[in-house]
Amino acid sequence: MALEKTLSIIKPNAVAKKNIGAIIHMLEGAGLRVMGMKMGNLTQRDAEQFYAIHKDRAFFKELVSFMTSGTVVILALEGTNAVVKNRDIMGATDPKKAAPNTIRAKFGEGIEANAVHGSDSVENGINEVAFFFAERELC
Ligand code: CMP
Repeated sequence: MALEKTLSIIKPNAVAKKNIGAIIHMLEGAGLRVMGMKMGNLTQRDAEQFYAIHKDRAFFKELVSFMTSGTVVILALEGTNAVVKNRDIMGATDPKKAAPNTIRAKFGEGIEANAVHGSDSVENGINEVAFFFAERELC
């Protein structure tokens, strides 16, 4: 059982609806430890770089536009099998397909406004945490 890092972003729709506390409560309840936390607005450059893997997808422009449309909360999370734990509590990308009692089922409003982002692999967990946090910002 490996101690892993993973990144969660509470997206603009969930921040605007005052769901920050409820989402962090669910993440902690799933066995994840918050080791870094930032609140702010992504620049276009941040969002384009962060989601660069999707740059050729039809939804890329809209994704960047949505992620820069309001405040986000960025969480560096740690735990045993943290990537899978985060993906399980987060639920499927499309909130309509997300299992009951997952974050996206409860707080997602559509495939874009799906309440949270989460790293999809151990490697991306490491890279995505490093994208937003310096080592000294992780507790
Ligand atoms: P996220 O986990 O932040 O990673 C990429 C995001 O693209 C995804 O969540 C969705 O919010 C968004 N997205 C928009 N349209 C689609 C789509 N058709 N398929 C997958 N992701 C999409």
